[in-house]
Amino acid sequence: MSDLASIAEQMVAEGKGILAMDESTGTCKKRFDSYGIECTEENRRAYRGMLVTTPGLGEYISGAILFDETLRQNTTDGTPIPMALQSQGILPGIKVDTGAHPLAGFENEKVTEGLDGLRARLNEYVELGAVFAKWRAVITIGPDMPTAACVEANAHGLARYAALCQEAGLVPIVEPEVLMDGDHDIDACYEVADATLRSVYAALYEQGVVLEGTVLKPSMVLSGKDCAEQAPVDEVAEATLSCLLNRVPASVPGVVFLSGGQSDELATAHLNAMNQLDPGAPWALSFSYGRALQQPAIKIWRPDQPETTELAQKALLHRAKCNGLATIGQYDEALEAQAA
Ligand code: 13P
Repeated sequence: MSDLASIAEQMVAEGKGILAMDESTGTCKKRFDSYGIECTEENRRAYRGMLVTTPGLGEYISGAILFDETLRQNTTDGTPIPMALQSQGILPGIKVDTGAHPLAGFENEKVTEGLDGLRARLNEYVELGAVFAKWRAVITIGPDMPTAACVEANAHGLARYAALCQEAGLVPIVEPEVLMDGDHDIDACYEVADATLRSVYAALYEQGVVLEGTVLKPSMVLSGKDCAEQAPVDEVAEATLSCLLNRVPASVPGVVFLSGGQSDELATAHLNAMNQLDPGAPWALSFSYGRALQQPAIKIWRPDQPETTELAQKALLHRAKCNGLATIGQYDEALEAQAA
């Protein structure tokens, strides 16, 4: 097995998933603001240091996606954050796109940027200890959206990024996110997810990306956030798996979902339901949640109250454990009551 394939396999090891903690400084500020935490460099360092030093985290977390700043920071005891992760058996990863920007000529649609100079940045990230990378493309559902132009431009960017990652020896997480925003129903989401994945895999093929050395990070097939009728858990699980089965080659080692604004417990329940379906999937079905893993911890943690650290770490570990169990279809809602 190639090195890339072996890293990808480790990222989706049984019972484990990925902790997304790669919020850009702007997004981190939004999250901190909701809880009255000042978004200083020191608070971001302390908060993220707290996350990665959670005792036992490596039992359920295979990898953590970092933001550029975090890859260069230390935990409170002076250990570089990538080393603190490795000491727990967690692979360090890095977000390498530079964000979703307005797509010229297509109002309200976005294209992810960051290809210029990417080769040099990737080589530096490898030196700093990263073994995988992430690039997020954003597809919006709305009147006359998405356009083919938007889907194709984003798929092309993802494929160019993935090829550069593999050249540098990094496993690319390919993340085409179909946003939950809007009042569309689950069928509309299915259609857009289907078209997006078709375009992404065509582009990966065109750019010569080796699928065994990639991990897919999609959104689930869901009702829009403002849709009056919310599809139940079983329907979401079946629609998501059916869509992926039609579009994702079996040579991909794993699919790690984003949470995208779902509640913590619903994101876990959906993943669990997918892993209970029979027949199941040819790839591992796991998680790469940001909000759905971190939310309970960030609610508790306060930079000026050291006693909150242990409680926040416990809250993170609980969500990591629940999601770890969901990757093998063994999550039970009763676990939530036990933890509460
Ligand atoms: P959420 O799970 O909060 O959607 O974040 C995952 C992620 O990495 C988005 O790019």
